[in-house]
Amino acid sequence: METSKLRVDLESRSYDIILGYDILGNLGQHLKALGFKGKLLVITDDNVFPLYGEKCLKGLKEAGYSAKIEVIPAGEGSKSWPAADQLLTSALDFVMDRDSGIVALGGGVVGDLAGFIAATYLRGVAYVQVPTTLLAQVDSSVGGKVAINHPRGKNIIGSFYQPRLVLIDLKTLETLPFRELRTGMAEVVKYGIIRDQGFFNYLYDHLTPTLEQEKDFYRHIVYRSCAIKAEVVSMDEREGGLRAILNFGHTLGHALEAATSYKHFNHGEAVSYGMLLASRLAFMRGILNEESLKAIEEILFRLGFKELPPGLTMEGIKEGLKYDKKRRGDKLAFILPEAIGKVQVYTDIPGEYLDQLISSFLKEFTGKQENK
Ligand SMILES: NC(=O)c1ccc[n+]([C@@H]2O[C@H](COP(=O)([O-])OP(=O)(O)OC[C@H]3O[C@@H](n4cnc5c(N)ncnc54)[C@H](O)[C@@H]3O)[C@@H](O)[C@H]2O)c1
Repeated sequence: METSKLRVDLESRSYDIILGYDILGNLGQHLKALGFKGKLLVITDDNVFPLYGEKCLKGLKEAGYSAKIEVIPAGEGSKSWPAADQLLTSALDFVMDRDSGIVALGGGVVGDLAGFIAATYLRGVAYVQVPTTLLAQVDSSVGGKVAINHPRGKNIIGSFYQPRLVLIDLKTLETLPFRELRTGMAEVVKYGIIRDQGFFNYLYDHLTPTLEQEKDFYRHIVYRSCAIKAEVVSMDEREGGLRAILNFGHTLGHALEAATSYKHFNHGEAVSYGMLLASRLAFMRGILNEESLKAIEEILFRLGFKELPPGLTMEGIKEGLKYDKKRRGDKLAFILPEAIGKVQVYTDIPGEYLDQLISSFLKEFTGKQENK
């Protein structure tokens, strides 16, 4: 399988996304080609390290780099001040200077945290993203949003700080658990709905519930998703307008995550429900036709939904909506599809629509077994 390249166009902050199969060992060569000369701190987690840590380090050392690896505990809990503090101390111990760089080897947790370290150490050193989950490959590694969490909320402390390179090795998806694969696939479906009807149709024709697909399928969907994300980020780096469309499904998705204290769903599972609900809301509001709604529902049900936890209530979900970042005063903002491939921000959704939507959703899904 040959290697493909995409460009995220951001003037002096532009960078390439390199995509291929079994290319992790070539990272050092790519960094050399970029003229990178300094020491490298590789940040990874304790699931990814035994799978890919040695291979990554070996490639860097063979290319002549002095590299050190730091392994954090896997999971959202590592996007924290204590973890960041420990990594910054490790960078100091390694005597990293302004020519040094950071490699983020892992999923979105590693990517966001390592990017945050890169953005803050010595007021900013270079970093590269080597995403190993589907979600990170199609979403979090591209676009430069870096962050850690605050006990009061996710991604509260962070910045926009672009990587110098994103290297996607599709082979890493082969060890990814099904649940994580499905999480990423929800974001892939999102790209079709928000920006590319042809891509949605491709997914509609090819996606199977087991997600066991040929390499070419994964290559195509990761490439196309990155191309859409790169285009949107290039047009609106700091989410002043267009970039907000990437939040399709996230308003109600985040509300579900918040209503379940971020413990029951992982991000993509909540976003799947969020996309279903936003599409139904668009239909209720009269902006999406029934045929398009049916197609969106069909693909989301095929992907499957995680069962709802007991005790989820309308009040809990509405409370979760209060903390949505897109909210302006008491007005909620929803990204709604007007057609497949086209979404728009709406702030005029009547409260009774929302009540009706959530109440019938709870009736439909409560007590349902996981659909796999
Ligand atoms: N910066 C952004 O634009 C952006 C966008 C979306 C999400 N995010 C953030 O991304 C995070 C979620 O990312 P995620 O879903 O990748 O979760 P994650 O990083 O927690 O990875 C999921 C799990 O998969 C394991 N894993 C990673 N790669 C593996 C592999 N190849 N084989 C086997 N196991 C592997 C990890 O150890 C972890 O247990 C959240 O913190 C979210 O806020 C950021």
